[in-house]
Amino acid sequence: MSDVQGHFGSAFVAEFDELLRWRRDVRHFRTDPVDDAVVADILRSAELSPSVGNSQPWRWVDVRSAAPRAVVKQTFARCNADALQGYRGERAQKYLSLKLAGLDQAPIHLAVFCEGGTAQGHGLGRQTMPETLAYSVVTAVGSLWLAARARGVGVGWISIMEPDDVCAALDVPDDWLLVAYLCLGYPVEETSTPELEREGWQARTDPRARYLVR
Ligand SMILES: Cc1cc2nc3c(=O)[nH]c(=O)nc-3n(C[C@H](O)[C@H](O)[C@H](O)COP(=O)(O)O)c2cc1C
Repeated sequence: MSDVQGHFGSAFVAEFDELLRWRRDVRHFRTDPVDDAVVADILRSAELSPSVGNSQPWRWVDVRSAAPRAVVKQTFARCNADALQGYRGERAQKYLSLKLAGLDQAPIHLAVFCEGGTAQGHGLGRQTMPETLAYSVVTAVGSLWLAARARGVGVGWISIMEPDDVCAALDVPDDWLLVAYLCLGYPVEETSTPELEREGWQARTDPRARYLVR
């Protein structure tokens, strides 16, 4: 008998917590491919995510061609160099030493957009908080991250890029907002500690500092 209420047993709950503990932002990828069927499974799981008004505003673009990939690498390199200018001294040295994207090695690049003009959901919940449409896409990215990790596939989220450059390179409709640019592939190593913590940039902090009761 399970000691957990509901559909799932305690063993599953323990494993799910392990999955959360071992989900990592990955920047060091093996170059070997991920089977199309595995990627399809991961996307199918991500499609189960919640969305405002059941709008399902996420749009996935599997970036396979060399030309848009080259644009993405250029915009990353430029934005990363710009970001470095915002740091001084030891912080700048540390920033320079970080690997902040696995664009060259990752076999899969997935650009994730929010279709701002979608009629699906009939506007429910968006009249008061229109930003919930984009939040819905973020929930799908979170699901994808876990669904990938459960299958041994690593995900790296890259935000150091100019969204307009990515939208132009991928020729997406004007009302599509870039929410995430993701690299997917098998990680070089598995770890339960964030890379930024291991590299001495930023450790996790005490959760009690983020918890209020009113
Ligand atoms: C919205 C978002 C954007 C991110 N952008 C970047 C990025 O551009 N480059 C990078 O190396 N990591 C990026 N990350 C990964 C974070 O640095 C990482 O999640 C954090 O250090 C915690 O590590 P963990 O995901 O392994 O727990 C991003 C994460 C999120 C949620």
